[in-house]
Amino acid sequence: MDKLKIGIFGTRRGADFAHAAELTGKAYVSAVCDFEEKHFDNIRKFCSEETQYFSDFDEFIDSGMDAVVLTNYFNQHAKYAVKALEKGIHVLSETLPAVTMAECVDICRAAEKSKAIYMLAENYAYFSTVEKMTELYKGKTLGGAIYAEGEYVHPMSYEEYVHYTPTSDHWRALMPSGYYMTHSLAPLMKIIDDVPVAVNAVSIYSDDLRQERDGEPVKDVASIMLCSMKGGSVARVTGWAKFGGHGNWYRIACAKGSMETVRGDQDSLRLLYNKWEMPEGAEQESVEKIEFTHDREKGEQCGHAGGDYYVTLDFIDCILEGREPYFNAYRSCAMSAVGILGWRSSLHNGEQYKIPDFSNEEERKAYENDNLSPFPDENGNINYPCTKYEADKFDI
Ligand SMILES: NC(=O)c1ccc[n+]([C@@H]2O[C@H](COP(=O)([O-])OP(=O)(O)OC[C@H]3O[C@@H](n4cnc5c(N)ncnc54)[C@H](O)[C@@H]3O)[C@@H](O)[C@H]2O)c1
Repeated sequence: MDKLKIGIFGTRRGADFAHAAELTGKAYVSAVCDFEEKHFDNIRKFCSEETQYFSDFDEFIDSGMDAVVLTNYFNQHAKYAVKALEKGIHVLSETLPAVTMAECVDICRAAEKSKAIYMLAENYAYFSTVEKMTELYKGKTLGGAIYAEGEYVHPMSYEEYVHYTPTSDHWRALMPSGYYMTHSLAPLMKIIDDVPVAVNAVSIYSDDLRQERDGEPVKDVASIMLCSMKGGSVARVTGWAKFGGHGNWYRIACAKGSMETVRGDQDSLRLLYNKWEMPEGAEQESVEKIEFTHDREKGEQCGHAGGDYYVTLDFIDCILEGREPYFNAYRSCAMSAVGILGWRSSLHNGEQYKIPDFSNEEERKAYENDNLSPFPDENGNINYPCTKYEADKFDI
């Protein structure tokens, strides 16, 4: 079997995917692209003599690759995803898939027309505990989901913030509190196999956590979003929450019991049944360390509790097997819409916003010209606030 040729667009986070792709043994990095040449040093050790280096996306994408990994700026994935799909090149996009509703529509239309696969690189949905919870939920011993919770809590010191946020117009300086929400919602969607159909949100500001540089907009530190799911349950998720201290946590509460990752130990799972509804042979309450069932030693070499390896492997296997990824264009864009419309909800006193079914052209068409965005467009213009403290400067 010939190995797949993978292109990496953006070489900071991109180096992690180059490493994971190499470890799978099924792909190699044929090309990388970054307009900051000094960032090539991050990735070189995972490349070969054949790897080509580019600073221009259009030259890079035409260099003869099967698939591209989009690890460029958070707010600029959609247009490159569409360009690649139009050329029949498979896309693995980092979060966020799209930062406007119009971009969500563009991605879904391009994915439908393309013979190539679109997938979101949502590594947190590949934790060993998430895999186990998905299997347990399918087993039906817990009954249907009623309520779910997902938290992504990642505080940064001021020094770290400045290191990862080189300029005041960088995406990290402008990102509203709820946009980076795939790490909290994607695992829940995958476990209960459901999609959000509406969102209400509240954004939180704390004077104790102000860390922006002089001249930057005052930012909220967390967003709490309530997602009404198609199957009837409600999921409470955070965006990228900046309160202390660091950690992820997932809980699924069902009719007959609950399961949750153990706080502070994301590789362990706590499972709890109602006394009167325990399956035969089960304990009423158990806590178990969950290990990956395959490729464990490769997973351990990659970041995010192995998630970086398994998400890359799944993408490559989807291509090789002609299989639709779980986080395809529709489910991925539904998550983008939770971030985008959840932010609007928090600026409108928690009003509920409907999430369209992106597989339905009639429903999504209503959003094809919805370009409201807190990030600058190609001319540097911003038409929506990134913080509630600037809301009065915009016509929202
Ligand atoms: N899933 C995770 O756990 C995880 C972790 C870190 C980052 N990310 C995601 O990965 C993406 C990248 O994150 P990062 O921290 O590396 O961001 P970054 O902003 O630090 O780096 C982006 C890189 O892309 C390059 N780039 C951007 N636009 C370009 C263009 N048009 N042409 C050429 N090069 C271009 C930049 O020079 C830079 O090297 C983001 O979407 C982020 O959300 C995800």
